[in-house]
Amino acid sequence: LNNGLGMTPPMGWNSWNHFGCNIDEKMIRETADALVSTGLSKLGYEYVNIDDCWAEISRDDKGNLVPKNSTFPSGIKALADYVHGKGLKLGIYSDAGFFTCSKKMPGSLGHEEQDAKTFASWGIDYLKYDNCNNDGSKPTVRYPVMTRALMKAGRPIFFSLCEWGDMHPAEWGAPVGNSWRTTNDISDNWESMISRADQNEVYAEYARPGGWNDPDMLEVGNGGMTKDEYIVHFSLWAVSKAPLLLGCDIRNMTKETLDIITNKEVIAVNQDPYGFQAKKVRMEGDQEIWAATLSGYRISVVLLNRGPVRYSTTARWDDIGLDPKTVVEARDLWEHKTLRTQFVGNLTATLGPHSCKLYVLKPIA
Ligand code: GLA
Repeated sequence: LNNGLGMTPPMGWNSWNHFGCNIDEKMIRETADALVSTGLSKLGYEYVNIDDCWAEISRDDKGNLVPKNSTFPSGIKALADYVHGKGLKLGIYSDAGFFTCSKKMPGSLGHEEQDAKTFASWGIDYLKYDNCNNDGSKPTVRYPVMTRALMKAGRPIFFSLCEWGDMHPAEWGAPVGNSWRTTNDISDNWESMISRADQNEVYAEYARPGGWNDPDMLEVGNGGMTKDEYIVHFSLWAVSKAPLLLGCDIRNMTKETLDIITNKEVIAVNQDPYGFQAKKVRMEGDQEIWAATLSGYRISVVLLNRGPVRYSTTARWDDIGLDPKTVVEARDLWEHKTLRTQFVGNLTATLGPHSCKLYVLKPIA
């Protein structure tokens, strides 16, 4: 969407994956505090996004959305002021239907202009717009109504389409939103995570500054996967130029979680100015190579072992778009090491079960 936002994939946090409907203003404020105190905000994690369940089930007598008094008694404007005071941005959630997915609050269908104005007046910076309980008309009809309402609301608001991929939003999302979900909801396990990466990959051609494919939010730190699996999760989201929206309780994180989500070199791949989304360039059984061009004549490459046993995997230059004679320097982004060997024609690594290597390759001759 041509609103100047999302020139690189958005980074931040969202309440849904860890907390579901169990949210209130205190934990949102504590999350904003934690983004700053952990150093995450300095790395680019800037959006604090409230998902479903923040509003009363009834609008007020003028038809306005009302924050739930029992959980958000100070109101959303006060929360936005607090979050902005920390140098962060506040996101909110609504739905292109009569009720949101939880059915615990009203949707914006038929109230688009009024709600967009309300969000802008509160100081909202990001809107996630879901697709539940609608009138049966096409998302290509309902979503652009909110796009126009936001454009008129007088405040730049990142617009995240949450249509779950059914109507191929990658094909129509660019003029409508800044990102679009290509999958249904992720859960905190390997199969769910890796299948969402697969479903998202087929739309790689559509990703670009201002409009990103969204395979759903991160589960890193929620406890359902091994460390290696979470490293695969974060690596694939990074090279896929996916939104990096943390989905754990960042007030209580292990060092392992923090180490994964604060890897500056991996974040830099995600935030590369070119915005090319990685594609699978080779699949052989459980072994895959994912690659994307980066700025500065560099290439990001993931060597992925999806299988249950240790395996040796090779990335070949002709698969990733390099002349076979090119001499390459390889940086291992998880080891934080530039490899001593220089590589010509291919690069091989041995990978444990459900694990990956993420390299940045730089031609030197
Ligand atoms: C849908 C969305 C989720 C989340 C929930 C909230 O399932 O896809 O990301 O927003 O609704 O109810």
